[in-house]
Amino acid sequence: PGALPLSGRHVLVTSGPTHEPLDPVRYLANRSSGKQGHSIAAALAALGARVTLVSGPVTVPDPDGVTVMRVETAREMLAACEAALPADAAVFAAAVADWRPADPAPQKMKKPADDAAPPLALVPNPDILATLSRHPRRPRLVIGFAAETERVIEHARAKLARKGCDWIVANDVSGDAMGGAENTVHLVTANGVEDWPRLPKVEVAARLADRVAEALA
Ligand code: C5P
Repeated sequence: PGALPLSGRHVLVTSGPTHEPLDPVRYLANRSSGKQGHSIAAALAALGARVTLVSGPVTVPDPDGVTVMRVETAREMLAACEAALPADAAVFAAAVADWRPADPAPQKMKKPADDAAPPLALVPNPDILATLSRHPRRPRLVIGFAAETERVIEHARAKLARKGCDWIVANDVSGDAMGGAENTVHLVTANGVEDWPRLPKVEVAARLADRVAEALA
């Protein structure tokens, strides 16, 4: 049998949400399940790639045949991604928190006597996709995701330019995509837009892995 299409290639994948601590027991997060990112990691491994999966906190199982690095915060995710370089391609499917609490408390925050709510000051997190797209050791193929609830293609095109990546998988999350088993996506590249049908997330992953193999061939 011939070599698999991605044998000898290293692909970095991010998946899941990030958790941004407010104090030792509280955090800011989002509803990302990690299903799509983990399926992509598995599909790339099935095509023979060596896959490093940098995952935020998720309950989905680790895919077989993939090196999993577990992180909690966006800053840890960025550090793990940089440590995983060099890579031939990178797929940034994680739902990274855009902001984190500015000054997490070292001890559990207590209710003030006057029943007032504490102020919640936020600061921006690093953009991992944008950072890796402009990195000195940039992977040859950089793929971002864009979860949108409206004007999906228009926003994805803008994101492609702003982030400096090669492709955007634009994800219509106006329905039940987040946490659900299926996804409706559009592959947005410099050459145009491909509309994919509503598919199980594992099918979206298999198609995307095929496209990665083609692009790296
Ligand atoms: O700008 P927006 O967050 O919608 O972009 C989504 C894309 O950017 C996804 O590929 C996501 O993984 C990536 N991203 C990132 N780091 C961030 C925010 C988003 O890698 N801080």
